[in-house]
Amino acid sequence: LREHEEFTKVKNIATIELGRYEIETWYFSPFPPEYNDCLKLYFCEFCLNFMKRKEQLQRHMRKCDLKHPPGDEIYRSGTLSMFEVDGKKNKVYGQNLCYLAKLFLDHKTLYYDVDLFLFYILCECDERGCHMVGYFSKEKHSEESYNLACILTLPPYQRKGYGKFLIAFSYELSKKENKVGTPERPLSDLGLLSYRGYWTRVLLDILKKHKGNISIKELSDMTAIKSEDILSTLQSLELIQYRKGQHVICADPKVLDRHLKAAGRGGLEVDVSKLIWTPYK
Ligand code: ACO
Ligand code: ZN
Repeated sequence: LREHEEFTKVKNIATIELGRYEIETWYFSPFPPEYNDCLKLYFCEFCLNFMKRKEQLQRHMRKCDLKHPPGDEIYRSGTLSMFEVDGKKNKVYGQNLCYLAKLFLDHKTLYYDVDLFLFYILCECDERGCHMVGYFSKEKHSEESYNLACILTLPPYQRKGYGKFLIAFSYELSKKENKVGTPERPLSDLGLLSYRGYWTRVLLDILKKHKGNISIKELSDMTAIKSEDILSTLQSLELIQYRKGQHVICADPKVLDRHLKAAGRGGLEVDVSKLIWTPYK
């Protein structure tokens, strides 16, 4: 039995076709058994239904009338749009998205219970429609103050700043909820790099403006970043000292400037004035 289990965990789908991209997959994803013999799957880039053969996809594209993810457009700035999809109202879409995402997520367990999640789909839009670039999922109610469950930028779009955009977006939602948030653990290597990068830049910018005269609690209130994540980030930047049983921020301007130079700029900013959203009730 164990051998069989190991066997079925072997990566089956080697490539997928999605929109105008053919993408090599990274990890196993538990597609239904009838897809076990497939090396390649063909996805409809709008409804995310997947098929075994190109002709099936072509037939599907003639009758599929979606041109963007199902759900509400809650953000639009230039050609970038964000859609909110409720897993309960769009179960099949949510499940398709999870199957797709698992191909690039290693240690995440797949939730079949998509009812409990909201999905935020980032798209680049043109005259042909809104093309998914990446997404994150978020529990409707989180006991652990998670504001993001899974995050993915599709490989053809990686390293262009979309990941940090998605992370920033997740914190903007938390600010609107008047809550602090943190990503679900464990983080992948790339996930940690992206979060570290985001936290570092946001915190350094504020410290620079306030010349360091600010507490971790105040930083957390301003950014919706959980105090523990602020502390670990500032510790890794060696901006924390421990005095009289307390962590205090020691932001020497020269040290700040050095870190700021190394941190680089994130190109894609979230324009909060273009976010139209109320928290889930
Ligand atoms: N090599 C080195 N550093 C990298 C790499 C890489 N391949 N990719 C991202 N980074 C770091 C860099 O510091 C980068 O900032 P920089 O370009 O300014 O130097 C930073 O991460 C963020 O880069 P972005 O372009 O904003 O992020 P991207 O769009 O590539 O998305 C993401 C990052 C979502 C983690 C992507 O790599 C991905 O989808 N990976 C597969 C799925 C995954 O691991 N998701 C996270 C799991 S944890 C969780 O879901 C809670
Ligand atoms: Zn479709």
